[in-house]
Amino acid sequence: MSNIITIHGMVDPHVHLRGLDWAHKGTFYSETCAAVAGGYWAVMDMPNTTPPTLNRPHLDKKLAEIRAQAVCDWGVYFCASATGNWDEYPQIFDDVCGVKMFNNDTTGHLLVEDDAIREGHYAHWDGRKIFANHAENETCATIIELVRKYRKPTHIVHVCTAYEVDLIRHAKADGLPITCGVCPHHLFLTEDDLPQLGSLGWMKPTLKTRTDQDALWQGIADGVIDVVESDHAPHTRAEKASDNPPYGVPGLETTLPLMLTAVHEGRISLEKVVDLVANNPRHIWGLTCPPQTYSLVEIDESRILTTDHLHSLVKWSPFEGMRLYGIVRETWIRGVKVYDGEHILVDGGFGVNLYG
Ligand code: DOR
Ligand code: ZN
Repeated sequence: MSNIITIHGMVDPHVHLRGLDWAHKGTFYSETCAAVAGGYWAVMDMPNTTPPTLNRPHLDKKLAEIRAQAVCDWGVYFCASATGNWDEYPQIFDDVCGVKMFNNDTTGHLLVEDDAIREGHYAHWDGRKIFANHAENETCATIIELVRKYRKPTHIVHVCTAYEVDLIRHAKADGLPITCGVCPHHLFLTEDDLPQLGSLGWMKPTLKTRTDQDALWQGIADGVIDVVESDHAPHTRAEKASDNPPYGVPGLETTLPLMLTAVHEGRISLEKVVDLVANNPRHIWGLTCPPQTYSLVEIDESRILTTDHLHSLVKWSPFEGMRLYGIVRETWIRGVKVYDGEHILVDGGFGVNLYG
């Protein structure tokens, strides 16, 4: 007996779609195809592209390309720079979903380490849109103090340690306007998987311990964690197999099935999953689900993940070979069927900027 459920308005607020000078890793077309195949209505693209989204001309270049190619709805982040580019904020504010600051090292050269610059960004950002932070461990504590001082709505991306969950639990108890997301790879893999995965298991933040992973599931259970975000960050297989492999893994097509596999195993309720991948991100990023925008998902069906299921350009996954529950049969956006379980049914350019 098939058991098909409807999930309205799934949003992934943390993806790296590539495109621009990194189109060999993924294009705004290929990666938004992956998004709708993963059940998503909308995705929000991070600014560590090549070139990075640090000024108005680079933002315009990205907006033009994504507008022409996207098959799902979208938003883009602006990047808070190490040199303090806050003079740009008034001119970019209306076109972006938020700003992102990289406070720890990752792909791209966008690290902001100077506390005075970090504070400058907080002082200048208009708190009507989200301030997203890559902020691991001690850095997370530093950012929380800025949230305490400036009270600007802040999302901590890819929380992955017990310490970070604890910091955010206390910050929320203090009434600070803070939310956070976890990634499926930190929920379903640990450092123990690295010998088998090799560089296909390399991402920033890196895979952590079983104790950290348990804290993430506990944080989901008690409401500290608001969002499951993929941190979809494709690199080619050849790049991953090179002597100097880059950090990042694709995730748009495995996030929902992984979470539904956890439902199948009784680790989490279906309602909670829908909150984490749809209701909460819509609420945090100020979005209303348009009419007739949903995915139909067969939740009791499973399949072994193979690469020919994937629409992302790089066609690999650290979860290849796993039995995953939950098959997306259809995705509808604003009354149009965009995905039929196999094929993408709209042309690039169908998607709209949710903040335009
Ligand atoms: O592993 C990662 N890869 N973490 C990030 O924060 C960035 C991403 C990328 O763009 O490759
Ligand atoms: Zn990321």
